[in-house]
Amino acid sequence: MAENLSISVGSKEEKYLELLPQLHSLLSGETDLVANLANVAAALHQTFHFFWVGFYLVRPKVDSNLSNEPEELVLAPFQGPIACTRIRWGRGVCGTVWKEERTLIVPDVERFPGHIACSSLSKSEIVVPLFCQGRVIGVLDIDSDCLGNFDEVDAKYLEQIAGMITT
Ligand code: SME
Repeated sequence: MAENLSISVGSKEEKYLELLPQLHSLLSGETDLVANLANVAAALHQTFHFFWVGFYLVRPKVDSNLSNEPEELVLAPFQGPIACTRIRWGRGVCGTVWKEERTLIVPDVERFPGHIACSSLSKSEIVVPLFCQGRVIGVLDIDSDCLGNFDEVDAKYLEQIAGMITT
């Protein structure tokens, strides 16, 4: 299945429209969360050549006795350069999306207060929450090395992709 993933050369929207049924077919045959996150990250990276594509999952905090935050985001399957491994609730773009439970489009990461810079090459970003039974269980994070790379088209289709991911 994965090796048959076809690469579209059309507009951004055409690429998403081609990718969605392929991902649906790929994910519907597999129940393992890590396997599915890994394939979604690979498919998005292969299709759009984003600088960084990956997931952070909400996990119990190792030292939760020392803090009133019982959970944190932990790095999960991704494609791209190495990234920071743990993000606190409300911190950076990813932690803010977890807190606010909504997609954020950041046209210029340097203008986002508290942005966590995993790479100086990252210029713009979109982060989409993953929901399970009404609760945020993680985020899909995509970084571009171009300013203003993401818009409502990305948000619309990435939210659909995030909705295909179940635990
Ligand atoms: N920039 C993100 C951190 C994750 S990296 O981009 C992979 C943030 O501010 O949450």
